[in-house]
Amino acid sequence: MRRSLLAAFTLLALGGVVAAQSDQIATRRNIMKGVGAATRTGTQMAKGDIPFDLGKAQEVLKTYATAADDFHNHFPENSKTGGDTTAAPAIWENQAEFRARFDNWAKDIRQASDQTKDLESFRASFGNVSRACAGCHQAFRVKT
Ligand code: HEC
Repeated sequence: MRRSLLAAFTLLALGGVVAAQSDQIATRRNIMKGVGAATRTGTQMAKGDIPFDLGKAQEVLKTYATAADDFHNHFPENSKTGGDTTAAPAIWENQAEFRARFDNWAKDIRQASDQTKDLESFRASFGNVSRACAGCHQAFRVKT
């Protein structure tokens, strides 16, 4: 009886660990999905496909800023695989560089937010901050 209770608890605990690890993967993928959606809106505005709206432009940059602050907190050692992650092993091998990219990105985003006043200034600053995507993905994502 005792033994089976213990086994049941162990299983429960293990289940919790697996859930926690895939939660981290789901959380960070959702953050990047948000960044992807914000980028679509920003690109449409920059190209003039939708009317420029200063509030919306700042919202795009705010989504980036939140991602830059928080995304790198969701890479515990036990989340290297699973949950359809495309995170590359390089993240855990070069943690300082991974982290520094977000700090630099955050700095550029703050500057972009300060400089964005109208369509023209948004185009310039948005172009600047969305250049970070491909560089980081090349270094820290596996190709799927
Ligand atoms: C400093 C690094 C870094 C920057 C900058 C960055 N990304 Fe990512 N991105 C990642 C990593 C790492 C993943 C993989 C996350 C995972 O699957 O666990 C990812 C995943 C994604 C995904 C896939 C989400 C999914 O469905 O799983 C999208 C879309 C995305 N990024 C868009 C963007 C866009 C657009 C930008 C620029 C505006 C950007 N990212 C900037 C590191 C970055």
